[in-house]
Amino acid sequence: MILVVGGAGFIGSHVVKELVEKHQVVVLDNLSTGHRDAVDGRAVFVEGDLGNIDDLVMVFRSYPIRAVMHFAANSLVGESVVDPLKYYQNNVASTLTLLRVMNRFKVRNFIFSSTAATYGIPDADLIDETTPTRPINPYGHSKLMVEQILSDFSKAYGLQYVVLRYFNAAGAHDSALIGESHDPETHLIPIVLQQLLGKREKISVFGADYNTEDGTCIRDYIHVTDLANAHILALEALMIGKKKAEVYNLGNGLGYSVKQVIETCEKVTDLKANVEITDRRPGDPARLVASSQKILNELGWRAERNLEKIISDAWKWHCEQRY
Ligand code: UFG
Repeated sequence: MILVVGGAGFIGSHVVKELVEKHQVVVLDNLSTGHRDAVDGRAVFVEGDLGNIDDLVMVFRSYPIRAVMHFAANSLVGESVVDPLKYYQNNVASTLTLLRVMNRFKVRNFIFSSTAATYGIPDADLIDETTPTRPINPYGHSKLMVEQILSDFSKAYGLQYVVLRYFNAAGAHDSALIGESHDPETHLIPIVLQQLLGKREKISVFGADYNTEDGTCIRDYIHVTDLANAHILALEALMIGKKKAEVYNLGNGLGYSVKQVIETCEKVTDLKANVEITDRRPGDPARLVASSQKILNELGWRAERNLEKIISDAWKWHCEQRY
């Protein structure tokens, strides 16, 4: 059985939807930011906390866990700067509790959600896994700390792991049954779509004076279903012993500016956005674009869904948002 911690969240719930096609799945989630309704009915659901060792022991005793996927983390850069304790507690200390229990039950396979925020403000135009990691906020630090812990545990205890560094996850499941629902919402694509639906008065573009073609920041948006598929491949590579300790970027290798994203949203929805240019948001690098060549070479994964598909799936979800 595969344990998915944080399986009621945005990315976790999409991975669970793919995973249940091939595996038995148990989801552990405290529903602090996740949604019970997002969890596929074919998975066992346990409401519990990653930081609570009793909850974890109960799950590992009750189910024959062979691998763990870990999505349960706080992930707002700005919040991490004002409340680093929350980030080090939930993202690092609780993960250590999970790893301790895995060790006790001799569960050796682990997939970890990491982030482009581990790179900070990179010099490279195309970021690969050898680009130096220099986080600039507690969120990025918390993820990189866990990456270090995994590397040490792998050498000392034989833990096998794959770290997946996501760039800008977006979109929704093709069925529109599950999608992205954060409160508060801070991400660009849902904010634009909410404005187009009349749920917000306007969209603030955080800075149009960056050193980019149109002056707005460039990001690498990746469809959540492409992300989910990468997790399945990584899990299978661990379970057959093909991989033991790897880090992969997950992006589509193309950058889109904030203006291009808004224009594509307008095109897909055939609506006009109400946009204002405001000051830069602190801590935003001008450009973050991934090379995902390594995972293509080693596991045969590539992003298959482009920005229009990301936005059209997200739009379907936003139009009939279920939770
Ligand atoms: N943006 C706006 N207006 C908004 C929201 C966002 O202009 O209302 C801009 C941002 O300034 C940025 C781009 O849109 O240039 C994308 O912003 P998001 O907040 O959607 O995503 P980020 O690139 O800030 O965040 C992502 C991940 C984080 C990760 C970070 C690494 O969501 O988990 O990349 O920098 F930490």
